[in-house]
Amino acid sequence: MSTVLYPGSFDPIHYGHVDVVAQAAELFGNVVVAVMHNPEKPSGLLTTAERVRVAREALAHIPSVTVEAFAGLAVDAAKSVNALCIVKGLRTSGDFEVEQQMAHTNYAVAGVRTVYVPCQPGFTHVSSRFIRDIAQHGGDISSMVPAPVAAALAVAFK
Ligand code: PNS
Repeated sequence: MSTVLYPGSFDPIHYGHVDVVAQAAELFGNVVVAVMHNPEKPSGLLTTAERVRVAREALAHIPSVTVEAFAGLAVDAAKSVNALCIVKGLRTSGDFEVEQQMAHTNYAVAGVRTVYVPCQPGFTHVSSRFIRDIAQHGGDISSMVPAPVAAALAVAFK
């Protein structure tokens, strides 16, 4: 059994993320979900503490998972938990382009490898950005996020 790090901004966590965590737990054992800052997404919706809280609730059914906030680099977070590798989910070829550059960079600067997990076909359209948009305008996000996430967004947009 190994430990892997699954970093992301998780603003908010959605069913696609939950699927990747479940697959990673099955493949590797322990999964540390790292709520981190993405410099390309400076203005978030939920605070870091809220992201951690709702992610813990959304993942409570998977016992080998922990959720923590980390500052700094994903490679340093991975080393701090003795992770075998970083895990990333892939929805589309667009995701691959972005993730491949990060994976090569993380290996080049710190020797930390990345393993990709394809998300289930039924979740390829699910994205945190669209979820925020839909929730902001009162739309139904229940097919894309667990109930605690929908509740947190309802409060955020009240
Ligand atoms: O869910 P996201 O927004 O696609 O996640 C991106 C994230 C947070 C994993 C990425 O921005 C990241 O790794 N941030 C931590 C800082 C870091 O390690 N930067 C160097 C990337 S090569």
